Amino acid sequence: MSEIPMIGAGRDRVDGRAKVTGTARYAAENNLPNLVHAVVVSSTIPSGTIRAIDTTAAKKAPGVLAVLSHVNASKLNPPPSQGGGKSETGGGGSASGGAAGGGTGGGASGGTSGQKQGGQSGGQQQGGGQPSGNFAEPRATPFSDGTIHYLGQQIAVVVADTLEHATHAAELVEVTYDARPGRTDMNALRHEAKDKGAQQAPPFVKGDPEGAFAGAAVKIDRTYRTPYHHHNPIEAHSIVVAWDGDRVTLHDSSQNIFASRQTIAHAFGIPKENVHVVSPFVGGAFGSKGSTWPHVLVGALAAREVKRPVKLWLPRKQLFFTNGHRPETEQRVALGATSDGKLVSIIHEGISQSNAVCDYNERFTRPTRVMYATPNMRAENLVVDLNVSSPTYMRAPGENPGMFALESAMDELAYAVNIDPVQLRLINYAEEDPSDGKPWSSKSLRECYERAAARFGWADRKREPRSMRDGRLLVGQGMASATYPSHRSPASARARMNDDGTVVVSSGSHEMGMGTATVMAQLAAETLGIPAERVRFEYGDTNLPQAPISAGSMTAASVGSAVYQVARELRQKLVALNGGDEIANANDYAALLHAHYTPDVETRVDAKPDPEEAHYSAHAFGCHFAEVSVDPDLGLVRLRRMVSAFAGGRILNAKTAHSQFLGGIVQGIGMALLEETHLDRRFGSYTNVNFGEYLVPVNADVRNLTILMLEEQDPHVNPIGAKGIGEVGIVGVAPAIANAVYHATGKRVRDLPITLEKLL
Ligand code: MOS
Repeated sequence: MSEIPMIGAGRDRVDGRAKVTGTARYAAENNLPNLVHAVVVSSTIPSGTIRAIDTTAAKKAPGVLAVLSHVNASKLNPPPSQGGGKSETGGGGSASGGAAGGGTGGGASGGTSGQKQGGQSGGQQQGGGQPSGNFAEPRATPFSDGTIHYLGQQIAVVVADTLEHATHAAELVEVTYDARPGRTDMNALRHEAKDKGAQQAPPFVKGDPEGAFAGAAVKIDRTYRTPYHHHNPIEAHSIVVAWDGDRVTLHDSSQNIFASRQTIAHAFGIPKENVHVVSPFVGGAFGSKGSTWPHVLVGALAAREVKRPVKLWLPRKQLFFTNGHRPETEQRVALGATSDGKLVSIIHEGISQSNAVCDYNERFTRPTRVMYATPNMRAENLVVDLNVSSPTYMRAPGENPGMFALESAMDELAYAVNIDPVQLRLINYAEEDPSDGKPWSSKSLRECYERAAARFGWADRKREPRSMRDGRLLVGQGMASATYPSHRSPASARARMNDDGTVVVSSGSHEMGMGTATVMAQLAAETLGIPAERVRFEYGDTNLPQAPISAGSMTAASVGSAVYQVARELRQKLVALNGGDEIANANDYAALLHAHYTPDVETRVDAKPDPEEAHYSAHAFGCHFAEVSVDPDLGLVRLRRMVSAFAGGRILNAKTAHSQFLGGIVQGIGMALLEETHLDRRFGSYTNVNFGEYLVPVNADVRNLTILMLEEQDPHVNPIGAKGIGEVGIVGVAPAIANAVYHATGKRVRDLPITLEKLL
């Protein structure tokens, strides 16, 4: 690949026009003939059992076709054995590995990738074949019994001829409960903290962390908190399901259509070949659409019952309760260092929320294992099961909340030893993976610090807190690092050269705005030596060759490697047809096919990670430098500007990559200053379940962002050298801003978001 530039051309996204003109059809827009509508009924208590469901009035309401609950719905097959993990990941992709991970991809890593890279992609990385089913809640399928695990749980569904009729009838369903006190307070139940979903980041110890910390000349020992966050994609989760006998088609909004297919097939006891999942457009996901959530199964149940196509679209409010969130965390970071800033011990431990029906563990200590060189380290992230809805992966799960704690603590250490924060990081720069001693596949973090600091003007910063002002406003500057592991999973692809010199490349991947459709066409075009306009990429359909979950920042690496390989093989096949002579351009390809009276030539590959790749530790790295102003009277924080630099291996498309980083940073600004879902612990309910009260950044909050993309050649990570950049952009944003706020005010905010009352 050395002839190909490390920063690919910034092409416009191929699906842009369809999206802005409204011709892109999202799942809920499939208004099939004879379509009816489903509306779910949600539990209003956090814990207990349903004593009775009275559906008399609902059934009599106009237009109602069916009311289903655990009382009358036919039972779905429960998820395959749970909690497994390692033993299930080695071979042929058993149906159960994914469920073990409790969400997107799930499963243990084991094998070659090493435990620290497990989690999201691990199960499939090793599975090699079918993705596992991915019941979001592997310990309770919808309507299996009358047990209430959390408030908002889907306990019944009403199907009617119109959305209005279904909505009305759903309000007529009368539920009585035997309520139990809800376990909703993580702090009160901390003594129950346990390891769970351990394959995602099992407890880690190296050396003598406690002893080294006790004996350290300088100690930082602090507790950091992050609140509940919700993904809030603009497109609500929705599904249109149509059965034809024992065959079913699902128009879904999904990051993982093949796992959806497997989950539906398993739950309904039908062959997976009978399940067709289509998801050509996904209007945002951020991890929330990587699992098969209850509504998918409920929609399929409802459609089978009424023998008509069913649309189940979840209102915004509902999304807060049954489609995942980033759980609250409480993290202790203890750093022991010499007086000249050399780390002798890192301890990172704490708890996050989980629940009894899922296996999710927010692995916030994971980045700590790879960030800084230290002889002694302990990392342990435990969970407390609450009667609160199921958490899941949310953009840079683990890395993002974890780096808030670690990079805030590093800033505190920088002041304690009176060393510049960038210098402190350079003193502790990890030249190899601190967790296992593996060499990096490539690492350009030093260059990221240099480039971003220079562009930002970091050298002009005054070190003392409260030392910089702009008129009456306090000004502060802070920085933090970013990291996210590079995953790769098996992916298949097909490529067909037509006799007009156009190419269709197919792989059942997903486009949720990352630019997949665009970069895959680019990659195939470059490899074949034809213009990108000549290539169309097909995706989002389980009838296509199988692709992995689009999560864990691994679509470019996984599907991209498959597309590169299939295009290369197609080229070789055509060159062979050409008597071994290279083919110069698309017209020559067309002429070649005409000369052989061939309408098309096709190749197909099943690409898999090369075991060689596992000899290296592969991570994208980066950093952010933030400048804030704080109003000393009102506590109001404004992010004035930020300079971020990233090295993520080869960048396939400078424009879509820039947008990926930008999106991550904007979401990080939200995390730092605005986003928080309030849980009313008395009732176990979220209270700000709308865009009026769950604040996300708007244009006025997002000012001057500069993104530097470094050229980084990585010969080890995968055949195309792309590390994946979908998540690293958000990592480190919140601590960079928090560190800038400290620099401005002298006030350290250790619980997000940084709202004005915390500064007054
Ligand atoms: Mo993600 S949280 O890898 O979609």
